[in-house]
Amino acid sequence: VLKVPEASSADYRDAMAEIAEHVHVVSTDGAAGRRVVVATAVTSVSDSPPTVLVCLNRHNPLNDAYVDNGVFCISTLAEPHRPLAEICSGMVKATQEERFARGRWITGTTGAPVLADALASFDCEIVETMDMATHRILFGRVRSVRRDGDQRPLIYHKRGFHLV
Ligand SMILES: Cc1cc2nc3c(=O)[nH]c(=O)nc-3n(C[C@H](O)[C@H](O)[C@H](O)COP(=O)(O)O)c2cc1C
Repeated sequence: VLKVPEASSADYRDAMAEIAEHVHVVSTDGAAGRRVVVATAVTSVSDSPPTVLVCLNRHNPLNDAYVDNGVFCISTLAEPHRPLAEICSGMVKATQEERFARGRWITGTTGAPVLADALASFDCEIVETMDMATHRILFGRVRSVRRDGDQRPLIYHKRGFHLV
């Protein structure tokens, strides 16, 4: 019988590249400052009470701002947000000011910036965190949502952005 070899980090990344994902921006604001990054590691946890999680690289000290502010908003991107996705992904060098300038933002219930024309947005209070491998998992209690079902999602698949 054929035995499947143990996965390396590269094998894992290659297999994950086959999985089409929604693209989100994760934003925060508060005493620790304003920050926004692209993330695909976003998952629904529960509808009662409404809870989501996002995995952020904990070796990037700038990501401490999320926990320090205690709030974040997940805004799911639509077709027209491709330039915002590119500038907030670390693919091109840009300041946080330049990143925020690419989107239209409103202030959420928690004080986190919410992308006004997102496909959907989930404004959250952080209720729990857990460190796992290179990442920190932030669990967010959803305080408010917005949605715009007339738009089509921006998708990340095989290491590139796509429209469906
Ligand atoms: C498609 C895509 C998905 C990403 N998903 C995540 C993620 O889930 N978690 C994360 O910490 N970083 C993720 N990143 C990387 C961050 O967006 C990137 O490290 C961040 O924008 C760097 O910001 P900085 O230069 O201000 O530190 C992703 C990048 C891309 C291109």
